[in-house]
Amino acid sequence: MIKAAVMGYGTIGSGVVEVLDINQSSIAKRAGDGIEVKYVLDLRDFPGDPIQEKVVHDYRTIAEDPEVQIVVETMGGVEPAYTFVKTMIEAGKHVTTSNKALVAAKGAELIALAKEKNVNFMFEASVGGGIPIIRPLNSCLTADEIEEITGIVNGTTNYMMTKMSQEGLEFDDVLKDAQAKGYAEKDPTADIEGYDACRKIAILTSLVCGQQVDFEDIHTEGITKITAADIKYAKAMGRAIKLLASSKKVENGYVAMVAPFLLPASHPLYSVNDVFNAIFVHGNVLGDAMFYGSGAGKLPTASAVVADIVEIAKHLDTNIATTWSSKKLELVDYRQNVNRFFVRTTADAAAVEKVFGSVEYVTAEGVTGENGFITNAMSEAEYEEKAAQLDGILQMIRVAV
Ligand code: HSE
Repeated sequence: MIKAAVMGYGTIGSGVVEVLDINQSSIAKRAGDGIEVKYVLDLRDFPGDPIQEKVVHDYRTIAEDPEVQIVVETMGGVEPAYTFVKTMIEAGKHVTTSNKALVAAKGAELIALAKEKNVNFMFEASVGGGIPIIRPLNSCLTADEIEEITGIVNGTTNYMMTKMSQEGLEFDDVLKDAQAKGYAEKDPTADIEGYDACRKIAILTSLVCGQQVDFEDIHTEGITKITAADIKYAKAMGRAIKLLASSKKVENGYVAMVAPFLLPASHPLYSVNDVFNAIFVHGNVLGDAMFYGSGAGKLPTASAVVADIVEIAKHLDTNIATTWSSKKLELVDYRQNVNRFFVRTTADAAAVEKVFGSVEYVTAEGVTGENGFITNAMSEAEYEEKAAQLDGILQMIRVAV
């Protein structure tokens, strides 16, 4: 029996215990041995829960027990998760985490430490919930230069955009609905402002380029400014508005950003709705690939954590190399990105054309007293410069090809 410990018995941690129980025998076959949870670390007690006897309140109990080989971290946040995980790796234990904040901030360091200690630090569940994307990038798509990763990597905002689109509702009403359904947190800032997606694309970009990409360097816009009127325009264009996290290889490096985009029906991410996530990958020899599925939630996320446990169980004496050094990658300025831009303004057509030249006008049913138009392709920098010359801009959303 391989002994494991779970740090953090919240939604994901309890899901991990549940998955290990539901699929006990198939997991044991695949892992080559049974997996037994010896400890659950939490501040709380869980009277009546089968794991109550396993609850410990001091992480050192786990670190100091030589029987424990695998530690699961599902606490969230950078501290104290970082201190606990570091201590476990230093004690020669393998770690898997679902914690994107920890991985984005400390991934390179923990990978290096795990290598030094000949253990593994895995984080499949940190991006895309149950969708395999970390292992495919690290172990499968290794023949390719990955030229683009563009994903819908936040279930909460995708649910909200889908609901706004399907029901014509305003942002605040949809947020309340998402909170009532448990899809959005009481404090939804990290999701709706794009911070969660930003950390996820920072992790994916770090894996693709093999260097540290700091999430603070990624230009990030959330969905809070999207309105029911924008959705009407999107419909008139036959497009859908989606929050995309994107990273592209360009001539002089990598450029990454998080922002809402207007996607055409032909785009592979157009039909990704509700809480689902999908990650589109383009490799220089592979061409296109897409990873789609349950990007959040208790059991899907726990599925990815337990898959890491199985992978670790198969490599108890081997460090599986992960190329992600702590050398910082300076991202290319996103303002070099070329896009077409959908703009809504109270300015008249003459003023629009004076600044942007010829544009494609769009009208939306029931929206009056303004002009909606799509610019020609130009860099973000050029758009900013022109937009500064036009009064009355109400909205700008990038238009994907
Ligand atoms: N809040 C996140 C989401 C959870 O909605 O995708 C999974 O990381």
